[in-house]
Amino acid sequence: MAQAPPAPPQAQPAQEDVPLYRLDARLVLLHASVVDKNGKLLTNVPQSAFKVFEDGVEQPIRLFRREDVPVSMGIIIDNSGSMSNKRSRVAGAALDLVKQSNSDDEVLFSFENRQLKARLGQSVAAALLANGIRTLRIDEAGNPKGILCGIGYCFECRCVIDDESDQRACMVEVKPGMRVRRQQGLA
Ligand code: FES
Repeated sequence: MAQAPPAPPQAQPAQEDVPLYRLDARLVLLHASVVDKNGKLLTNVPQSAFKVFEDGVEQPIRLFRREDVPVSMGIIIDNSGSMSNKRSRVAGAALDLVKQSNSDDEVLFSFENRQLKARLGQSVAAALLANGIRTLRIDEAGNPKGILCGIGYCFECRCVIDDESDQRACMVEVKPGMRVRRQQGLA
């Protein structure tokens, strides 16, 4: 039986030909909020007022920036009978607060007792769609209905918002604490 000749040895690159890259980039992000003794946010504190230590050794601050960081905000609004004549003003104030905030902030609202998030300025319909909810109403024949025109003409997106039925979800801006339900049949 003939034996296959041994494979020729692979040429090994000379050690000095192999490029060697070394990288040591370490940037530790530290978020700091500074408030005065009354809890009011101070936004004009200079970099020179900050010192960072690691194991007792002061570390250089390589980068210093002021940022308005987006947050998710949940506002709980009392919905009891004693609030009935104030609720729309409280909701309006909550919306004003949110509008003054970072445009990337999120608000919380509920759909059929599920807590959902929405972007500021979104319509209820868009916020529900973004959360995977397409059925906003069950018509008199039991058919699921949802967004059709998206501009307020077709009335297919009618749902119950804060206990008011027949609200067109595509025309109502989502507010923090808003409660949305599917509408069943004729309101
Ligand atoms: S989707 Fe047509 S009115 Fe809202």
